[in-house]
Amino acid sequence: MRLNEEQKKILDGKEGGILQDAIISLIKYGNAMGAEEFIPISSAHTAFSTMDVVALAFPPRGKELTKEDINEFSEAISDCQVRVKTTTNPGIIDRERWQEMGANEVIHNSVMRAMEISKRCGIMMTCSCTPYIGDNIPLMGEHCAWAESSAHLYINSFLGARTNRDSYETSLYSALLGITPNFGMHLDENRKGTDLVDVQCELNNTTDWGALGYFTGEKVGLGIPVFTNLNKPTMEEAVQLTANCNSPGGIPMLLIPGVSPEAPTGEVAFGKNILRKTYIFDEAAKRKIYEDFSYEPEGKVDMVFLGCPHKTLYEIKKIAQILKGKHVANDTSLWIMTSYSIRALAKQLGYAQIIEDSGGKLFADGCLLLYYVNAPAKRPKMDHVVTDSLKQGFGVRRSFHSNIFVTDTERCIEIAIGGA
Ligand code: F3S
Repeated sequence: MRLNEEQKKILDGKEGGILQDAIISLIKYGNAMGAEEFIPISSAHTAFSTMDVVALAFPPRGKELTKEDINEFSEAISDCQVRVKTTTNPGIIDRERWQEMGANEVIHNSVMRAMEISKRCGIMMTCSCTPYIGDNIPLMGEHCAWAESSAHLYINSFLGARTNRDSYETSLYSALLGITPNFGMHLDENRKGTDLVDVQCELNNTTDWGALGYFTGEKVGLGIPVFTNLNKPTMEEAVQLTANCNSPGGIPMLLIPGVSPEAPTGEVAFGKNILRKTYIFDEAAKRKIYEDFSYEPEGKVDMVFLGCPHKTLYEIKKIAQILKGKHVANDTSLWIMTSYSIRALAKQLGYAQIIEDSGGKLFADGCLLLYYVNAPAKRPKMDHVVTDSLKQGFGVRRSFHSNIFVTDTERCIEIAIGGA
């Protein structure tokens, strides 16, 4: 990769070891992906859950990090400042209600330490997988370095911003350096449609939009789907569509003519690309997806989980309206996840209180999947889990072998109230 004078100085270690390690890693990344140069970015979205996780992004790698290594690293990175707006993906626990989540003090202390250091580095520890609805909203044409399997797809598809699906590590390096290798989704020629998805059935709720995303990810795999016969989505529907594409797939961007900023028409969406394949999403295709997540709870349901990706304020308002005056069944947990900023508003507006009065929990940060993958905490029982998100259902079933039933949000809440 060609480097400018400033980048050469960083590579020579003149700006410190952390930045030197970061640029070495980004050069390797760029070389592997065929990039010839770096481009400046305006925002990054990364992870900063605990210091031991963050430290893994920096050498020495491949060995067990000692406490001393992590302390030393924490001091070194505290002296750095991110160069662009930087938000973070969900961490492990709700920083305010960690005990209710079953986390222990060791985990809590580790998260709080990461938060202190992220503050010193200028990282906004927002801990949300939907930064694009509030804390970090890039505009058309902005180059970014975002991790998170659904967020990168949303900003490419619905905002016209440009990012590859970066890893937590590369997005952190980019945040510290303000640059990313110029390849993939940063280039015009890679932002055109490859496959057509013809939608021939009704989408009745956000979960159905998730089913369309899941189908698309499974069929298209690596490619850019263009949709036809699809109504304009609401923001919540667009969130579910993009979030679910990448449970089974690796889609960097999708295009809905007349909705996606880079696809005023179907013709423009494809550009000079030759259509690879057409897929039909009809009632039978939709049913098949639900059948795969159709464990019908006959007995007690342990957990009803809503909020993958994190719920918007509007969704929380609707959940509160349904729950008002009702009560969640005794042995069933109803967990609803959102960001800290949205929860603060939900508290002010009274939605949070209604949810808590009903026995539900409005947590900020985390999600079942991240929580249980990363935290050796005391878990609530989750043999039988109901959720309105195929992405969460897919991940939880794979990680914890739970019986999963995926259905729309209203039905999920009915099940939480009925307990079965
Ligand atoms: Fe967010 Fe966890 Fe789903 S990070 S997108 S709630 S798997």
